[in-house]
Amino acid sequence: MYRLGDSVIYILYGESHGEFIGGVLEGIPKGMEIDIGKISEDLALRKPSAGIGTPRKEPDEVEFLSGIWDGKTTGEKIHYRIRNENTDSSKYDIFNKTPRPGHADLPALVKNPDHRIKGGNQFSGRLTVSIVVAGSIARQFISEQGINVAAFTRSIGGIRDTNDRTFEDATGSKQYKTRAVSADLDTAMTLEILNAAADEDSVGGVIECITTGLPIGFGGTWFESLDSEIARAVFSIPACKAIEFGKGFDLAGMRGSESNDPYCYDGGVKLRTNNMGGILGGMSDGAPVIFRAAFKPTPSIGKEQDTVDLETMQDAKLKIEGRHDPCIVPRAVVVVESVVCLVIADQIMREYLLADPVQSK
Ligand SMILES: Cc1cc2nc3c(=O)[nH]c(=O)nc-3n(C[C@H](O)[C@H](O)[C@H](O)COP(=O)(O)O)c2cc1C
Repeated sequence: MYRLGDSVIYILYGESHGEFIGGVLEGIPKGMEIDIGKISEDLALRKPSAGIGTPRKEPDEVEFLSGIWDGKTTGEKIHYRIRNENTDSSKYDIFNKTPRPGHADLPALVKNPDHRIKGGNQFSGRLTVSIVVAGSIARQFISEQGINVAAFTRSIGGIRDTNDRTFEDATGSKQYKTRAVSADLDTAMTLEILNAAADEDSVGGVIECITTGLPIGFGGTWFESLDSEIARAVFSIPACKAIEFGKGFDLAGMRGSESNDPYCYDGGVKLRTNNMGGILGGMSDGAPVIFRAAFKPTPSIGKEQDTVDLETMQDAKLKIEGRHDPCIVPRAVVVVESVVCLVIADQIMREYLLADPVQSK
């Protein structure tokens, strides 16, 4: 079991080829109405899209075991599970002998000699189905406070969206399979994925996430800073390899006079630019919180790769069969949104409990 959060605590459990994937979400206030339809909408965004996703099909039906009654939270732990229907592990046996480059097989086998590879086990992207359920509940909670989160695809392989994009663009991206913000970009990115798949290869990409509605000062300091907690949660998503807030790595080459976001008064203190991505000192500066996360190409590819035969300790070749996403990015967009919703829900409740000594007992 894997845990995120202090006051809104999310626990993730399961394995890609086990009977269930599940989660426990604790700390969401009681009496909140939960729209199950919205959870299904978020889950649909995580499903593989025809043509550009894995052929593994899962119904992703969520069974709530506790914590929601008559459509409202009871204040008890929300425990739910999703049955895995499609769990043929036979094509994965070979990876116990010849581990997949780029996947978790080698470190997992060395760390635990009893480990037997069945799908991606606990390292699988399949577990993100549970994250999306918890994130969707957290999304409903934070949107009641006027805070909204939307992400979209910035790039896939060599196809890059270089224009400035808004929260509305990010919301609109959900109509496109690749989660790009326009039909043209969607077509180009789809082609990039199909070309990689035709070469028995894979591609990665960049997801941008925008959060609106955070009041100035929202967040924490040091290890509870908003950016560090978001970064930790986003990095926990399998295949995420980099994250930058605002202008990120480009800030390193700027002068302070260029990088500082100047203030102006416009019915309140506002920022003229948003180079920092909406966070100063770990707290919201009132501008939208914007970050980009890079996802690597899917490690399991059909192309022949070099590996080592762990029985003979000789160099070996590996050709992977089975069902894989030629690009993880489109499905990871809603997962990125989900972890951000969980982090913000947790920070809201942490501040609330600190402010209320009766609740914090
Ligand atoms: C939504 C999603 C789907 C994924 N699908 C696959 C897949 O089909 N095949 C694969 O090899 N890796 C897939 N991955 C990535 C692996 O789980 C990941 O690369 C692996 O566990 C190693 O972890 P790391 O890349 O974070 O180091 C997926 C990841 C996500 C988030």
